[in-house]
Amino acid sequence: MIKVGILTGGGDCPGMNAFIRAVTRSMFNLHPDSEVWGILDGWRGLIEKGYRQLTPMNTAGISTLGGTVLGTERVPELRTDMELRKLVMRNFVEAKFDALFVCGGNGSLHAARDLDQMLREAGHNVPIFFTPASIDNDVANIYGTSLGFYSAIRRSLEMMEWIRDTASAHRRVYIIGSMGRKSAFLPFYAGIATGAEYVIRPDEQVNFDAVADMIEARDRDTRIIVSESYSKTLDEIRAILGHALERRKSRHEIRTVDMGYFQRGGEAAITDVLRANWLGYSMVKSMLAQEGSGFFGAFYMGAPLQHVSLADALDPTANHDDIPREIIDMALALR
Ligand code: F6P
Repeated sequence: MIKVGILTGGGDCPGMNAFIRAVTRSMFNLHPDSEVWGILDGWRGLIEKGYRQLTPMNTAGISTLGGTVLGTERVPELRTDMELRKLVMRNFVEAKFDALFVCGGNGSLHAARDLDQMLREAGHNVPIFFTPASIDNDVANIYGTSLGFYSAIRRSLEMMEWIRDTASAHRRVYIIGSMGRKSAFLPFYAGIATGAEYVIRPDEQVNFDAVADMIEARDRDTRIIVSESYSKTLDEIRAILGHALERRKSRHEIRTVDMGYFQRGGEAAITDVLRANWLGYSMVKSMLAQEGSGFFGAFYMGAPLQHVSLADALDPTANHDDIPREIIDMALALR
């Protein structure tokens, strides 16, 4: 009998449920003598021994649901609190799992690497398999796109199109906040998808006079997306642009709106569901082939799997927060 755990950590995102289902189903189909346990509320479940048994039956129909049926929680203390880490390891060993499957963001990748290291140092040969899930697409993204990223673009696109209606009707400028943490991927790709007039990337030096000229040159709507970690708030940008437009005696009004948590919810995009299936299945196969711990990434279902060590996935060179130049050039060409 093989007993495995599945954990979803960090900020929830669509695609996590498809991953839970894919791992569960693959386990029972590829190794019928299996026991699969969901660890509740992310790493908190290993602190408080919160587990729920998963079966093909109770994972039916969850693939496209947003959020995670196992729950999740951020436990930042795990980075610094050695006693808490030891407790996680003790509980994990006590639960007698033969492998752990994790999907989550950067915090979870660190936690997985730390647990893996501690297990090996203590002589326990229990592999940990990790795949990234985050709307930010900021986890070792040279190896694949995070689950949840395309779902968040889909949701953002929907909202941006609604805003276009009212922006256009009123000849308004909308300054629109986007999640994404330090990464430009979500705001920029959402901007391309909807044809936004401008996307402010996290570290960009913005020429607001040029932006005001662009607004003036447009007849009606302008939508400006602002990355989460840009140094100015939506209201500060509104004030700067407001003055610039006043100087131009412009008729455009400015409004602000934050897409924020709405971007993280709702139905999973099909690309995320398919990739979650591919990754879950491949990670189970890797475990059954007795391969060791590792990070798994893929750019689409059926794409070659990127299988690297957890430590390599944490290397800063494995992730780019800014957009490749060619994509920026494309966006400019499509404006
Ligand atoms: O990592 C996903 C994300 O939604 C980020 O875009 C955002 O910065 C953060 O999580 C918000 O975190 P929380 O849900 O803990 O407020």
